Parts: sequence; structure tokens; C-alpha cells
Amino acid sequence: MRTIKVWDPLVRLFHWSLVAAFAANAFFTRPGREVHRWVGYTVAGLVILRLVWGLVGTRHARFADFLPSPRAALGQLGEMVSGRKRVHVGHSPLGSLMIYNLLLTMAGLAATGYAMTTVAFFGVEWVEELHGALVSWAELSIVAHVLAVVVESRRLGINLPKSMVTGYKTLP
Ligand code: HEM
Ligand code: HEM
Repeated sequence: MRTIKVWDPLVRLFHWSLVAAFAANAFFTRPGREVHRWVGYTVAGLVILRLVWGLVGTRHARFADFLPSPRAALGQLGEMVSGRKRVHVGHSPLGSLMIYNLLLTMAGLAATGYAMTTVAFFGVEWVEELHGALVSWAELSIVAHVLAVVVESRRLGINLPKSMVTGYKTLP
């Protein structure tokens, strides 16, 4: 067993703030109202912060450490089926794809949400529909994200959610 520092405080704060802000807007704020808009701008700010941190942040926070690779992601799926275990200190290949998907989806939500408040796109149906569709896509993605985190935690014997809280991974 060895314990390694993986996620810096900014990544962890970013993650749980994003969870809170997304949940607030998807379930608790009144759609379109002032609080909803400010929470939405917070999501936009968090995504921008994370994009910058992906370039200049600590080792495992950098995009260079988890470039998207469909091939490696297929390999990981194969390992999940075959039982072969390969431990990733930073993000796994499947995790990487999900992260890019979630960041893009959050950016799209903020963009379409903002568009609805502008003169040019106010009351435009396809923008409203896209905003709603992105919410559904985000919810589906998050269910898959959490399921994958649980499945991989059990399969590899690493408590991944805990690592996103403490910053440390204990590898078997
Ligand atoms: C994570 C970000 C966001 C989430 C999860 C979210 C979620 C939602 C949801 C669930 C609805 C209801 C959709 C429906 O009725 O089909 C909605 C509507 C709306 N949202 Fe957002 N939203 C986000 C960001 C934003 C932002 C940044 C703005 C504006 C600056 C915004 C403005 C609106 C408006 C104007 C509506 C339409 C309200 C109406 O039906 O009159 N949203 N949003
Ligand atoms: C609104 C819901 C959620 C969103 C939008 C979300 C989004 C993200 C994003 C963007 C990352 C990448 C972190 C980074 O590198 O900055 C991430 C990673 C991660 N998330 Fe979430 N997440 C959500 C819910 C959860 C929940 C509920 C859990 C706990 C069960 C969780 C556990 C994790 C873990 C463990 C990682 C690191 C995965 C790895 O080891 O590669 N997430 N999530």
C-alpha cells in the first residue's frame, strides 16, 4: 500500500463547487430567475478556472496528464470485462473522456442559458430546447460518472470519492 497526493486543493474545491452549483440549478432554483442566472455564471466561472488550471496547474490537474484517448478508454473497458487491473494515479482514460464531456456540457449550459437572456436569442425556441436537452444530457452523464466511480473504486480497491475529498489516493 502506498498513499500518494493526487488532487490539489483547487481541483477538489472546483469539483465539489461544480457539483453543488449544477445540483442547485437543476433541482432547486427557479429556472431563469436571478439566482438561477448567478449560479449559472458561477458554473461558467468554475469551468474557465478549470481550463486555465488544466494548462498551468499541478501535475495530475493538467490536460497533458489526461489527454483524451478513445483507444485507451476502450482498453480500460476491456480490463473491466477481463478483470485485468491497471491502476491510474491521475485520471483514468474513461474518466478523462467523461471530464471533457462534463466540462463541455457545463459550458454549453451556461452559454445557452446566457443566450436566453439576450435580446438576440430571447424567446427563441431552439435555444430553450437546447438548454433543456443539455440539462438531460448532463444528468445522464453524471449518473454514468458516479456509477463508473463506484464500479472502478470497487474493482481496483481504491476509494476514488474519498480521494476527491482528501486529495490522496491509497493504492494497493
Ligand atoms: C449549470 C448551469 C445551468 C443549469 C443546470 C440550468 C438548468 C435549467 C433548467 C433545468 C431549466 C428548466 C428547463 C425547462 O423548463 O425545460 C432552465 C431554464 C432556464 N435557464 Fe438555466 N441552467 C443553467 C444555467 C443558466 C444560465 C447561466 C442562465 C442565464 C444566465 C440560465 C437561464 C435560464 C432561463 C432564462 C431559463 C428559462 C426559464 C423559463 O422557462 O422561462 N440558465 N435552466
Ligand atoms: C453534478 C455532479 C458532478 C459533476 C458535474 C462532476 C464533474 C467532475 C469533473 C469535471 C471531474 C474532473 C475533475 C478535475 O480534474 O478537475 C470529476 C472527477 C471526479 N468525480 Fe465528479 N462530478 C459530479 C459528481 C460526482 C460525485 C457525486 C462523485 C462521488 C461519488 C464524484 C466523484 C469524482 C471522482 C472520484 C473524480 C476523479 C475521477 C478519477 O479518479 O479520475 N463526482 N467529476
